[in-house]
Amino acid sequence: MNGNIIIKNAAQLVTCSGFKAKKGKEMSDLYVIKDGALVIENGTIQSVGKTGEILANFDEKSIQDKRFVAIDASGKAVLPGFVDSHTHLVFGGYRAQEFSWRLRGDSYMEILKRGGGILNTVKSTRRANKEGLMTTGIRRLNAMLSLGVTTVEGKSGYGLDRDTEIKQLEVLKALNECHPMDVVSTFLGAHALPEEYKGRADVFIDFIIETVLPEVVDRHLAEFCDVFCEKNVFSIRQSKRLLMNAGKNGLKIKIHADEIEPLGGSELAAEIGAVSADHLLQASDKGLRAMAEAGVVATLLPGTAFCLKEPFANGRYMIDNNLAVALATDFNPGSCYSESIPLIFALATLYMNFSIEEAVTALTINGAAALQRADTIGSLDIGKYGDVVILKYPSYQFIPYHVGINTVEKVIKKGELVYDDPLLKFDCP
Ligand code: NIG
Ligand code: FE
Repeated sequence: MNGNIIIKNAAQLVTCSGFKAKKGKEMSDLYVIKDGALVIENGTIQSVGKTGEILANFDEKSIQDKRFVAIDASGKAVLPGFVDSHTHLVFGGYRAQEFSWRLRGDSYMEILKRGGGILNTVKSTRRANKEGLMTTGIRRLNAMLSLGVTTVEGKSGYGLDRDTEIKQLEVLKALNECHPMDVVSTFLGAHALPEEYKGRADVFIDFIIETVLPEVVDRHLAEFCDVFCEKNVFSIRQSKRLLMNAGKNGLKIKIHADEIEPLGGSELAAEIGAVSADHLLQASDKGLRAMAEAGVVATLLPGTAFCLKEPFANGRYMIDNNLAVALATDFNPGSCYSESIPLIFALATLYMNFSIEEAVTALTINGAAALQRADTIGSLDIGKYGDVVILKYPSYQFIPYHVGINTVEKVIKKGELVYDDPLLKFDCP
């Protein structure tokens, strides 16, 4: 285990080259190298280019003496690992029953108002112990890894009290330490108003700011702070108060914005310099323009719109108006119980009018930018981590074309082969 790999003869080396978020038209260029090769040493990309050039400068002896693992990617496309920049992956219990209620016509917000939804998961997460949360967390990370995700963001927000919020963040931290995937933690203490604070949202925001946030900051338990800014959840004023406070204490800012009602969350994201604003189904023109000017990444979560049967966010309009757009799964037990990257590709290309190139950019370099990591992940550039996906097919076009199906054959994390498709091999006489 030394993080040394050479990948050669790739039909396409889809580099997604770049070190910052790609806006508008920039999202269309994937900087593909045909017959490409890539050298990763000590987990970091050392060289990228045509196979002939790379091999001419590579000492083959280091393969023979087993210092480097060699992978022949003939007939395969090679891409940066996917970055899933918005998930709620640590939670107790499930909400299959609520899914069936939604099928019969109950809305997501109605279910929340009567104590279900997020508050239902809060009950089961408060009850869950750390071991149980670790076991399901690892299982979920393994599933994501097999779909080509090498970095994932995970939020707290199913505690809404000090102990459970801290417990979730401790689990996220432990997952980051024990699993090959990088797990980026976000404190979402203001995800819903807990029953014990009914009618006292301002008092709850005070509690989060005064009691939970300082511990999260002191113990370095999160890198980002997020809030569910929505009608009947937290207002613009309350969200701003919390996020400004978190920002002053060194956390970076994300915001669940303009998902169900056009409340002005995108304008707020621009005003306070959020790294990303997420959902944006109802975002106003003014808000989107402000986000473009302020360089806020628009993170779209089509799996959620799909599961809630809401119209998709207008990603086409955002790209045409020069925003940097990222895509993510929003994996969570309620509004989108799916970590499926193939589903996100299908929805973005077939229903949101993204080109395949734009969708790839949105799940790689722009996902990295949504986590403020475009300088270290999200593309196959020299100096970045060797986080790589090898497809079963010769072109990245197969990702949405093989609709809803995993096209990933191998995943490499920091130069280590961490997933190799376990093909079922039946012998027919
Ligand atoms: O991003 N909208 C708020 N939060 C999550 C859903 C969480 C849940 O329903 O458990 C979301 O969709
Ligand atoms: Fe979410």
